[in-house]
Amino acid sequence: MNDEHAHDDHRDGGRAPGHLPRDATPPELRHDASESGAAIADVGVVIVAAGSGNRVGGKELKQFRWVGGKPMLLHSVQMFQQRRDVAMVVCVLPKAFVGDPPPWLFQCDTDRLLISVGGRERTESVANGLEDLPDEVNIVLVHDAARPFVSSAMVDRVIAEARGGRGAVAALPVVDTLKEVDDDGRVVRTIERTRLWRAQTPQGFPRDLIEQAHAQARAERVVATDDAALFERLGLPVVVVRGSERAMKITDEDDFARAEALFTVPE
Ligand code: CTP
Ligand code: MG
Repeated sequence: MNDEHAHDDHRDGGRAPGHLPRDATPPELRHDASESGAAIADVGVVIVAAGSGNRVGGKELKQFRWVGGKPMLLHSVQMFQQRRDVAMVVCVLPKAFVGDPPPWLFQCDTDRLLISVGGRERTESVANGLEDLPDEVNIVLVHDAARPFVSSAMVDRVIAEARGGRGAVAALPVVDTLKEVDDDGRVVRTIERTRLWRAQTPQGFPRDLIEQAHAQARAERVVATDDAALFERLGLPVVVVRGSERAMKITDEDDFARAEALFTVPE
């Protein structure tokens, strides 16, 4: 791990300088500080941040590490709360942090922040977050904390489709030629890529339908790497909307440097 020291600095330094009292909501994030023409707030966001980051490793959880000038998870929380249509952001954290979240997490509109406890699988973490959404939520967005650089324009596209009664997935078309390879590294075949997309988050859904999809997945003990897959298996329609390279998922150590570079690139 080449940035072990920087990483540790962030861990110790991240809490203290990041700390704000609970009522120190930055004005731009206060719900009542909206510009005119505010939409009715009926979007609920579940940010899953309860993974253990095994592929990155290290002492600190990847979703709490700094990237692009602040802790990874805080980017998403603040981006969603800048939207007038967002009624609530539910952060799903590992069990050990639920009673004592990192103090920087409260640099947001705490009236629109809830904390839920994660599960063993991502699917379970999402399900727990869904349970905590308030009654006024009609549209649900599910987002990976491991994708810190999502633009509000991309969120607009996801919400617009979900309001039409469909599942919506931010995604990018595959540009490389795809090879299926056997255990010996021998190419078995070339896969037609023109219809293949890489799914990102956020993914958006009408609330009743995503709750139904998760209830069914739980009953049948199905887990999936995204939520659209649970929707699809019920035969419900899911469409892709244009994602962004900046919305990459930080999966391993090298991705921190890549994400940092992309952060400086305009959308
Ligand atoms: N996640 C979660 N609960 C889990 C597993 C994953 O909330 N039980 C979240 C992660 O925190 C992350 C997102 O789902 O924001 C995508 O998961 P991934 O990138 O795989 O993160 P980790 O599971 O933490 O990493 P790894 O698979 O390397 O352990
Ligand atoms: Mg994982």
